[in-house]
Amino acid sequence: VIGQVVAVGSGKGGVGKSSVVVALGRALRARGLRVGILDADLYGPDIPLMLGVTRTVPAGHVTVWQAPGLGAPRSEPVELEGMRVMSLQFLIAEGQAFAAAGPMASLMIGRLCTGIAWGDLDYLLVDLPPGTGDATQAVVQSLSIGAAVVVVTPQDVAHLDTRKLLDYFAQREVRVLGGVENMCTVTCPCCDHEFPLFPPAPQGRTIWDDGVARLVRLPFDRARFGGRGPAGGVAPDGALVDDLAARLVAELAPGG
Ligand SMILES: Nc1ncnc2c1ncn2[C@@H]1O[C@H](COP(=O)(O)OP(=O)(O)OP(=O)(O)O)[C@@H](O)[C@H]1O
Ligand SMILES: [Mg+2]
Repeated sequence: VIGQVVAVGSGKGGVGKSSVVVALGRALRARGLRVGILDADLYGPDIPLMLGVTRTVPAGHVTVWQAPGLGAPRSEPVELEGMRVMSLQFLIAEGQAFAAAGPMASLMIGRLCTGIAWGDLDYLLVDLPPGTGDATQAVVQSLSIGAAVVVVTPQDVAHLDTRKLLDYFAQREVRVLGGVENMCTVTCPCCDHEFPLFPPAPQGRTIWDDGVARLVRLPFDRARFGGRGPAGGVAPDGALVDDLAARLVAELAPGG
Protein backbone atom coordinates (compact mmCIF):
# COMPACT_ATOMS: atom_id res chain seq x y z
CA VAL A 1 0.00 0.00 0.00
CA ILE A 2 1.34 3.42 -0.97
CA GLY A 3 0.18 6.36 1.15
CA GLN A 4 0.96 9.29 -1.12
CA VAL A 5 2.58 9.54 -4.51
CA VAL A 6 4.45 12.83 -4.85
CA ALA A 7 5.82 13.72 -8.30
CA VAL A 8 8.73 16.14 -8.63
CA GLY A 9 8.93 17.78 -12.03
CA SER A 10 10.20 20.78 -13.95
CA GLY A 11 9.91 22.29 -17.38
CA LYS A 12 13.63 22.69 -17.82
CA GLY A 13 16.36 20.11 -17.24
CA GLY A 14 19.19 20.38 -14.78
CA VAL A 15 17.39 22.55 -12.25
CA GLY A 16 17.73 20.05 -9.39
CA LYS A 17 14.75 17.67 -9.47
CA SER A 18 16.76 14.56 -8.73
CA SER A 19 18.72 16.34 -6.01
CA VAL A 20 15.51 17.53 -4.39
CA VAL A 21 13.99 14.04 -4.59
CA VAL A 22 16.97 12.46 -2.85
CA ALA A 23 17.20 15.19 -0.20
CA LEU A 24 13.45 15.10 0.43
CA GLY A 25 13.52 11.31 0.61
CA ARG A 26 16.23 11.46 3.26
CA ALA A 27 14.35 14.10 5.24
CA LEU A 28 11.12 12.06 5.21
CA ARG A 29 13.09 8.93 6.15
CA ALA A 30 14.67 10.82 9.06
CA ARG A 31 11.11 11.48 10.28
CA GLY A 32 10.63 7.73 10.48
CA LEU A 33 8.46 7.54 7.36
CA ARG A 34 8.63 4.72 4.83
CA VAL A 35 9.93 6.19 1.60
CA GLY A 36 10.14 4.89 -1.94
CA ILE A 37 11.82 6.66 -4.84
CA LEU A 38 10.83 5.97 -8.42
CA ASP A 39 13.32 7.31 -10.93
CA ALA A 40 11.11 7.95 -13.96
CA ASP A 41 13.87 9.57 -16.00
CA LEU A 42 14.67 6.97 -18.66
CA TYR A 43 17.33 8.99 -20.46
CA GLY A 44 19.17 10.34 -17.44
CA PRO A 45 18.39 8.05 -14.50
CA ASP A 46 20.50 9.84 -11.91
CA ILE A 47 18.98 8.68 -8.64
CA PRO A 48 21.14 5.54 -8.19
CA LEU A 49 24.29 7.54 -8.93
CA MET A 50 23.29 10.16 -6.38
CA LEU A 51 22.83 7.40 -3.82
CA GLY A 52 26.25 5.99 -4.66
CA VAL A 53 25.17 2.98 -6.70
CA THR A 54 25.81 2.18 -10.32
CA ARG A 55 25.46 -0.81 -12.61
CA THR A 56 28.53 -1.76 -14.62
CA VAL A 57 27.33 -5.03 -16.18
CA PRO A 58 25.68 -4.27 -19.53
CA ALA A 59 22.22 -5.73 -20.02
CA GLY A 60 21.62 -7.98 -23.03
CA HIS A 61 17.97 -7.04 -23.10
CA VAL A 62 15.42 -5.16 -21.04
CA THR A 63 11.85 -6.31 -20.56
CA VAL A 64 9.56 -3.35 -21.12
CA TRP A 65 6.26 -5.19 -20.91
CA GLN A 66 5.01 -8.43 -19.47
CA ALA A 67 1.64 -9.98 -20.18
CA PRO A 68 -0.51 -9.47 -17.11
CA GLY A 69 -1.92 -12.53 -15.41
CA LEU A 70 0.84 -14.83 -16.59
CA GLY A 71 2.42 -14.76 -13.18
CA ALA A 72 4.78 -12.09 -14.41
CA PRO A 73 7.26 -11.47 -11.60
CA ARG A 74 7.14 -8.09 -9.97
CA SER A 75 10.54 -6.49 -9.53
CA GLU A 76 11.87 -5.74 -6.08
CA PRO A 77 13.05 -2.21 -5.39
CA VAL A 78 16.61 -1.78 -4.17
CA GLU A 79 16.98 -0.72 -0.54
CA LEU A 80 19.36 2.25 -0.21
CA GLU A 81 19.74 4.33 2.95
CA GLY A 82 16.53 2.80 4.23
CA MET A 83 14.61 3.94 1.13
CA ARG A 84 13.20 1.64 -1.55
CA VAL A 85 14.50 2.73 -4.91
CA MET A 86 13.63 1.74 -8.47
CA SER A 87 15.36 3.03 -11.56
CA LEU A 88 16.01 1.97 -15.13
CA GLN A 89 19.64 2.31 -14.08
CA PHE A 90 19.31 -0.98 -12.20
CA LEU A 91 18.29 -2.70 -15.42
CA ILE A 92 20.94 -1.32 -17.80
CA ALA A 93 24.56 -0.31 -17.27
CA GLU A 94 25.71 3.24 -16.59
CA GLY A 95 27.11 3.72 -20.09
CA GLN A 96 24.21 2.03 -21.87
CA ALA A 97 21.55 4.07 -23.61
CA PHE A 98 17.85 3.38 -23.48
CA ALA A 99 17.19 4.35 -27.07
CA ALA A 100 13.56 3.42 -27.40
CA ALA A 101 10.89 5.34 -29.25
CA GLY A 102 7.95 6.99 -27.50
CA PRO A 103 5.57 4.02 -27.17
CA MET A 104 8.36 1.77 -25.85
CA ALA A 105 9.35 4.43 -23.35
CA SER A 106 5.74 4.64 -22.19
CA LEU A 107 5.63 0.86 -21.71
CA MET A 108 8.86 0.99 -19.74
CA ILE A 109 7.45 3.69 -17.49
CA GLY A 110 4.32 1.60 -17.09
CA ARG A 111 6.43 -1.30 -15.91
CA LEU A 112 8.34 0.92 -13.47
CA CYS A 113 5.08 2.37 -12.16
CA THR A 114 2.99 -0.76 -11.78
CA GLY A 115 5.39 -3.71 -11.80
CA ILE A 116 7.30 -2.97 -8.61
CA ALA A 117 6.71 -4.71 -5.31
CA TRP A 118 6.98 -1.58 -3.18
CA GLY A 119 5.41 -3.09 -0.08
CA ASP A 120 3.97 -0.55 2.35
CA LEU A 121 5.15 3.02 1.81
CA ASP A 122 4.12 6.32 3.35
CA TYR A 123 5.52 8.28 0.41
CA LEU A 124 6.54 7.34 -3.09
CA LEU A 125 8.58 10.19 -4.58
CA VAL A 126 8.69 10.19 -8.37
CA ASP A 127 11.61 11.88 -10.08
CA LEU A 128 10.19 13.01 -13.42
CA PRO A 129 12.25 13.77 -16.50
CA PRO A 130 12.09 17.43 -17.55
CA GLY A 131 9.09 18.54 -19.55
CA THR A 132 5.79 17.05 -20.61
CA GLY A 133 7.02 14.27 -22.90
CA ASP A 134 6.03 10.61 -23.14
CA ALA A 135 7.58 9.56 -19.84
CA THR A 136 5.91 12.31 -17.82
CA GLN A 137 2.57 11.53 -19.46
CA ALA A 138 2.97 7.81 -18.80
CA VAL A 139 3.66 8.47 -15.11
CA VAL A 140 0.58 10.66 -14.80
CA GLN A 141 -1.51 7.96 -16.50
CA SER A 142 -0.09 5.01 -14.54
CA LEU A 143 0.04 6.37 -11.01
CA SER A 144 -2.47 8.14 -8.87
CA ILE A 145 -0.42 11.24 -8.05
CA GLY A 146 -1.46 12.83 -4.79
CA ALA A 147 0.54 15.98 -5.32
CA ALA A 148 3.23 17.44 -7.53
CA VAL A 149 6.11 19.71 -6.62
CA VAL A 150 7.90 21.68 -9.33
CA VAL A 151 11.52 22.77 -9.21
CA VAL A 152 12.80 25.96 -10.80
CA THR A 153 15.97 27.97 -10.75
CA PRO A 154 15.48 31.76 -10.68
CA GLN A 155 16.12 31.87 -14.44
CA ASP A 156 13.56 33.20 -16.88
CA VAL A 157 13.61 30.03 -19.04
CA ALA A 158 13.12 27.75 -16.05
CA HIS A 159 9.94 29.61 -15.16
CA LEU A 160 8.65 29.84 -18.73
CA ASP A 161 9.14 26.13 -19.37
CA THR A 162 7.69 25.13 -16.02
CA ARG A 163 4.52 27.09 -16.78
CA LYS A 164 3.93 24.54 -19.54
CA LEU A 165 4.26 21.67 -17.11
CA LEU A 166 1.87 23.44 -14.73
CA ASP A 167 -0.60 23.83 -17.57
CA TYR A 168 -0.31 20.10 -18.27
CA PHE A 169 -0.82 19.25 -14.59
CA ALA A 170 -3.91 21.47 -14.55
CA GLN A 171 -5.31 19.68 -17.60
CA ARG A 172 -4.76 16.32 -15.90
CA GLU A 173 -6.11 17.60 -12.59
CA VAL A 174 -2.86 16.89 -10.78
CA ARG A 175 -2.72 18.90 -7.58
CA VAL A 176 0.36 21.13 -7.42
CA LEU A 177 1.59 21.71 -3.91
CA GLY A 178 4.06 24.39 -4.87
CA GLY A 179 7.54 25.03 -6.14
CA VAL A 180 11.10 24.71 -4.92
CA GLU A 181 13.34 27.58 -5.94
CA ASN A 182 16.77 26.01 -6.30
CA MET A 183 20.22 27.54 -6.68
CA CYS A 184 19.02 30.99 -5.63
CA THR A 185 22.12 32.39 -4.06
CA VAL A 186 25.76 31.49 -3.71
CA THR A 187 28.20 32.45 -1.00
CA CYS A 188 31.59 33.79 -2.01
CA PRO A 189 34.33 31.44 -0.75
CA CYS A 190 36.64 34.42 -0.16
CA CYS A 191 34.49 36.96 1.67
CA ASP A 192 31.33 35.00 2.59
CA HIS A 193 29.21 37.54 0.74
CA GLU A 194 25.95 35.96 -0.43
CA PHE A 195 24.78 37.02 -3.88
CA PRO A 196 22.24 35.82 -6.48
CA LEU A 197 23.56 33.09 -8.77
CA PHE A 198 21.34 34.14 -11.69
CA PRO A 199 19.83 37.41 -12.74
CA PRO A 200 16.28 37.22 -11.45
CA ALA A 201 13.46 36.31 -13.83
CA PRO A 202 11.56 39.44 -14.84
CA GLN A 203 8.60 40.44 -12.69
CA GLY A 204 5.34 39.01 -13.96
CA ARG A 205 6.96 36.09 -15.74
CA THR A 206 7.57 33.72 -12.85
CA ILE A 207 5.45 30.83 -11.61
CA TRP A 208 5.20 32.71 -8.29
CA ASP A 209 3.39 35.48 -10.19
CA ASP A 210 0.97 32.77 -11.38
CA GLY A 211 0.13 31.98 -7.75
CA VAL A 212 2.29 28.88 -7.25
CA ALA A 213 3.35 28.66 -3.60
CA ARG A 214 7.11 28.98 -3.04
CA LEU A 215 7.77 26.10 -0.65
CA VAL A 216 11.46 26.73 -0.08
CA ARG A 217 14.45 28.64 -1.47
CA LEU A 218 17.63 26.58 -1.63
CA PRO A 219 21.04 28.18 -2.03
CA PHE A 220 23.67 26.91 -4.44
CA ASP A 221 25.73 24.72 -2.17
CA ARG A 222 29.24 24.15 -3.48
CA ALA A 223 30.31 22.04 -0.57
CA ARG A 224 27.50 19.58 -0.40
CA PHE A 225 26.07 19.26 -3.88
CA GLY A 226 27.38 17.56 -6.93
CA GLY A 227 29.31 14.78 -5.31
CA ARG A 228 28.53 11.13 -5.54
CA GLY A 229 27.31 8.81 -2.86
CA PRO A 230 25.79 9.25 0.56
CA ALA A 231 28.49 11.48 1.98
CA GLY A 232 29.38 13.76 -0.90
CA GLY A 233 26.04 13.56 -2.59
CA VAL A 234 22.96 15.64 -2.54
CA ALA A 235 22.40 17.19 0.84
CA PRO A 236 21.36 20.78 0.57
CA ASP A 237 20.79 22.71 3.73
CA GLY A 238 19.37 20.09 6.05
CA ALA A 239 17.06 22.42 7.95
CA LEU A 240 15.57 23.89 4.77
CA VAL A 241 14.81 20.49 3.29
CA ASP A 242 13.43 19.28 6.59
CA ASP A 243 11.04 22.25 6.54
CA LEU A 244 9.99 21.19 3.07
CA ALA A 245 9.38 17.63 4.28
CA ALA A 246 7.34 18.92 7.22
CA ARG A 247 5.24 21.06 4.92
CA LEU A 248 4.62 18.14 2.58
CA VAL A 249 3.56 15.90 5.45
CA ALA A 250 1.25 18.59 6.86
CA GLU A 251 -0.41 19.43 3.54
CA LEU A 252 -0.88 15.82 2.49
CA ALA A 253 -2.25 14.67 5.83
CA PRO A 254 -5.89 13.62 5.61
CA GLY A 255 -7.94 16.82 5.70
CA GLY A 256 -4.79 18.90 5.12
N1 LIG B 1 21.34 23.71 -4.69
C1 LIG B 1 22.34 23.19 -5.40
N2 LIG B 1 23.62 23.53 -5.14
C2 LIG B 1 24.63 23.03 -5.84
N3 LIG B 1 24.50 22.15 -6.85
C3 LIG B 1 23.25 21.76 -7.16
C4 LIG B 1 22.12 22.25 -6.45
N4 LIG B 1 21.01 21.66 -6.99
C5 LIG B 1 21.44 20.85 -7.97
N5 LIG B 1 22.78 20.90 -8.07
C6 LIG B 1 23.61 20.19 -9.03
O1 LIG B 1 23.16 20.52 -10.33
C7 LIG B 1 23.20 19.40 -11.18
C8 LIG B 1 21.79 19.12 -11.70
O2 LIG B 1 20.97 18.72 -10.62
P1 LIG B 1 19.95 17.52 -10.80
O3 LIG B 1 20.58 16.39 -11.53
O4 LIG B 1 19.34 17.26 -9.48
O5 LIG B 1 18.89 18.24 -11.75
P2 LIG B 1 17.68 17.60 -12.55
O6 LIG B 1 16.64 18.64 -12.62
O7 LIG B 1 17.29 16.30 -11.95
O8 LIG B 1 18.35 17.35 -13.96
P3 LIG B 1 17.73 16.50 -15.17
O9 LIG B 1 16.67 17.37 -15.76
O10 LIG B 1 18.89 16.29 -16.09
O11 LIG B 1 17.18 15.22 -14.60
C9 LIG B 1 23.74 18.24 -10.33
O12 LIG B 1 25.12 18.14 -10.56
C10 LIG B 1 23.48 18.69 -8.91
O13 LIG B 1 24.38 18.13 -8.01
MG1 LIG C 1 17.20 14.38 -12.83
